[in-house]
Amino acid sequence: MNTSSPEAAMQRTFDSVAGSYDQNGVEYFRPIAARLVELAELDSGEYVLDIGCGRGAALFAAAGAVGPTGQVVGIDVSASMVAETAAELRRRNAAGVVVAVMDGAAPGFGPGYFDAVIGSNSVHMIQGLESAYGRYRTLLAPGGRLAVSAPASVVEPEPRVFGLRSIAAAAARFSVSARVYPQEEAFGGPEKATTDLLHAGFTEVAVHVEDVVLRADSPDQLVRWTWTHGMRMMWDTMPPEHHEAVAREIAAEAAEFVTESGVVEVPSPVRYFVAR
Ligand SMILES: C[S@@+](CC[C@H](N)C(=O)[O-])C[C@H]1O[C@@H](n2cnc3c(N)ncnc32)[C@H](O)[C@@H]1O
Repeated sequence: MNTSSPEAAMQRTFDSVAGSYDQNGVEYFRPIAARLVELAELDSGEYVLDIGCGRGAALFAAAGAVGPTGQVVGIDVSASMVAETAAELRRRNAAGVVVAVMDGAAPGFGPGYFDAVIGSNSVHMIQGLESAYGRYRTLLAPGGRLAVSAPASVVEPEPRVFGLRSIAAAAARFSVSARVYPQEEAFGGPEKATTDLLHAGFTEVAVHVEDVVLRADSPDQLVRWTWTHGMRMMWDTMPPEHHEAVAREIAAEAAEFVTESGVVEVPSPVRYFVAR
């Protein structure tokens, strides 16, 4: 991989956050992954491929759904994510679940091996996704499903990322990758994604947009969370003299979402596609 390419930058970012990714108590990735697994209608005993498995939000949910007679394979380009998740698998003594370092653009498995291919908040980052859909279809057995999710873009009445204007503004000013901060519709939008999926040989495509609640114990915890996933790329490219002001803006806006019980709850729309 060209070390100055956007792919290499993304891989470095996820390598650098792997230790803290989805571990600081903020709820966002796991409820999305749980919903995706529900939409994929996994059955006991099925074989599942989880693309861009990260720390296992969808992987563990899928393992629960297919049970001990099923099999779940998680792949990720980030070797650090895979190492962390492999350690977690050993801690949990999880049977029937394996993880490997592999590019989700071209997973190396035999035709018809899986009943479902899933990817939560990951597949939209893959370059050349249109041609990858065809490979995913080939991996599926008859009756197989592809289920993917990503944050839905919000541009009206003003741009929001993760439900917040302040993050969209900072991302637009300092971001290096629109694929990490989806100011553009993930998967090219519902019409293009549906056309691409049908073109790849899927016969049925369902599109859903649903809010997930981004939940943090405090505005400051939410700001710290932004350092632990793809948004880390923004902080790393932002000149350090802007860090404090941007963090203050995000915390101030998050404070507008503090509920009566004292936690932050920001509704944030998520796009799901399920193709059969
Ligand atoms: C936002 S995380 C999502 C992780 C997990 N699925 C979740 O829901 O928490 C995105 C993950 O996709 C991985 N990723 C990005 N591009 C990839 C590619 N081309 N192939 C495989 N994994 C990729 C990243 O390394 C990262 O672990």
